[in-house]
Amino acid sequence: MIGVFDSGIGGLFVLSALRAALPEADLLYYADTARLPYGARSPALIRRFAREAGERFAGWGADRVQVACGTVSALALDEFRAAANRPVSGVIAPAVREVIKSGVRRVLILSTEATARSLAFDRALTGEDPGIVPLSLGCPLFVPLIENGFFAKNDPALLSFIGRVLAPGQTFLPDAILLGCTHFRLLSPAISSLFPGVPLYDCGEAAARALAKTERSQGGGSLRVVVSDGPDRFLSAAENAGALPPGTVVECVGEV
Ligand code: DGL
Repeated sequence: MIGVFDSGIGGLFVLSALRAALPEADLLYYADTARLPYGARSPALIRRFAREAGERFAGWGADRVQVACGTVSALALDEFRAAANRPVSGVIAPAVREVIKSGVRRVLILSTEATARSLAFDRALTGEDPGIVPLSLGCPLFVPLIENGFFAKNDPALLSFIGRVLAPGQTFLPDAILLGCTHFRLLSPAISSLFPGVPLYDCGEAAARALAKTERSQGGGSLRVVVSDGPDRFLSAAENAGALPPGTVVECVGEV
């Protein structure tokens, strides 16, 4: 069974891509909704959350885990891996590979504040190609907005807010935008409207593509969805985002 982890609904797009690419794989999605948003927390707290999530996947007996959270990938992948004690992949390396391959130079990385402060994407990009010019921009409140259903491109209040947050990115004149948080995919149309013609790379999509290439589809194609708090709220956010089929059963395991 393949485990997929995020703090909320963002990783569901990674889950959907994996379900499409590996229809026979048994999948278990765990969202730590009790403690979302991770990106507003300190590195020490994120490392603790990552350890506790990793332990849960060990308890569930996952064969491997895809961390579909940019924040844990940036700050606490080693802690997650040590606690899970099984193969674990993050979202940074696959996204960086895709961006490098495309030959772009000026890369605007949009992520949670904790991820931006870590400079993990920036370092991974320049480590592969020192000619890349990255700029990480932390985007406060994007994750709570998305979780609450605010992502429509034609919402003027939303566009005005995200325009304000993304203003430093506009003066940077990027060749490409890397979405370093798996939730941000839902804001793609709104972000693109502020950066017309600039290609977007999504870390979650890149990670799902990379995993689907190496994983063999085996099992009965089952799906289990587990959260640490508010299963009804999670289901309605997921349905609203078109990220889970209506009527999916969501279990609640409570906080650690
Ligand atoms: N989807 C998570 C990420 O990719 C959101 C983190 C959060 O809860 O702030 O970073």
